Amino acid sequence: MKIAQITAFEVLDSRGRPTINARVFLKNGLSASALVPSGASTGSHEALELRDNNPQRFLGKGVLRAVANIREKIAPALKGFSVTDQEKIDRIMISLDGTANKNILGANAILAVSMACARLGAKANKEPLWLYLSRLAGLNPKKIIMPLPLVNILNGGKHAAGSTDIQEYLILAVGAADFPQAIRWSAEVFAHLGKILSQQGFQTTVGDEGGYAPPLKSNETPFKLILKAIRQAGLVPGREIALGIDAAATEFFTEGRYHLKTDNRILTTAELVTLYQKWARKYPLVSLEDHFAEDDWEGFRSLNQKMGQKIQNIGDDLYVTNTKRLEKGIKEKATNSILIKLNQIGSVSETLAAVALARKAGLTAVISHRSGETEDTFIADLAVGLGTGQIKTGSLSRSERIAKYNRLLEIENQNQGQTRLARFPFGGLRDKNGQK
Ligand code: PGA
Ligand code: ZN
Repeated sequence: MKIAQITAFEVLDSRGRPTINARVFLKNGLSASALVPSGASTGSHEALELRDNNPQRFLGKGVLRAVANIREKIAPALKGFSVTDQEKIDRIMISLDGTANKNILGANAILAVSMACARLGAKANKEPLWLYLSRLAGLNPKKIIMPLPLVNILNGGKHAAGSTDIQEYLILAVGAADFPQAIRWSAEVFAHLGKILSQQGFQTTVGDEGGYAPPLKSNETPFKLILKAIRQAGLVPGREIALGIDAAATEFFTEGRYHLKTDNRILTTAELVTLYQKWARKYPLVSLEDHFAEDDWEGFRSLNQKMGQKIQNIGDDLYVTNTKRLEKGIKEKATNSILIKLNQIGSVSETLAAVALARKAGLTAVISHRSGETEDTFIADLAVGLGTGQIKTGSLSRSERIAKYNRLLEIENQNQGQTRLARFPFGGLRDKNGQK
């Protein structure tokens, strides 16, 4: 099971920007590859994605330097090591880089190899990737826990120019009996939303994550439109389908204030807390993400104190899948949940460590894609393997998003009778009559 060779080349992500495809080979010829994603509303504390900055190629976004780092530096360093020794492999690459944010080799270079090694380890063991990852994390669950999908059906912010300030409006099929039903309900609500938007004269073109991206005049309007779509789909808001948002608030935070351009309002942290409370009273809103800017700890703390019992508060750019920042968040009770993105931290082992720490502290962990994705479905297996119970992988359109849902449906299909859909662990859900 020793690593014999590693190759890499430049490929494209879902925005047509360069990313990396790395392939790891064993001596017996067995090989596996992995592609890494890329964010748009990236946190400033993320590990560094190495770009060439050569304006002659891809407007500076080429990744030939990262590719060369894999071929010339990482490959010779990992040759001869066992591919199933994931922690050692990651540790070697991290120390070869030697920086806290992986800015020498590039987090994109390290992660591509790290993921390809995990995939090859599973292949060499003749087991599915999710099971391999589950064992890597030291888990041994009786039932296979399928993640509840947080489906982003309306895109705004940096993912859809001209739409809302809030980056993502998500639906959660909290009342679904199993994973296929959660997918069907979500797809039906998405389709009804499309019909409603076209009846109102909007285009139904989609944003980076496959949700509709209409030029609405208020950040609150999407809730009303989505509720209508849920009802038209014959489902009960709150009981069967609940709502979530990812504000990605760092993107509209300047000079200490939150600038909601769509609403023509500028808010302080305290005023934004009040706005979220109002929305949660009016709508079946059960999950908030990056509802404050990445270093506005006070905002997160305040909201979590007021609403943390009832509503999921997720830190994304706040934590960047980094255990150091997560430790601070746990100590300060800043949130009750963390978003997990492999490429924010840059290796499989460190990602597993972040999930383990969250679990120990009683926080939920939501496995997530990036807005710039590829056909790689690693995160689907990661969500199942770690049994985190939630995944965020975009809308029910665009194949780079659907690929993850289809992989999850495949895992479900291959393990019939042995799976269960995770329950959404927060209260505050409404009953049939819409009462809390
Ligand atoms: P990003 O968006 O990949 O552009 O950072 C996803 C998110 O903020 O959750
Ligand atoms: Zn986010």
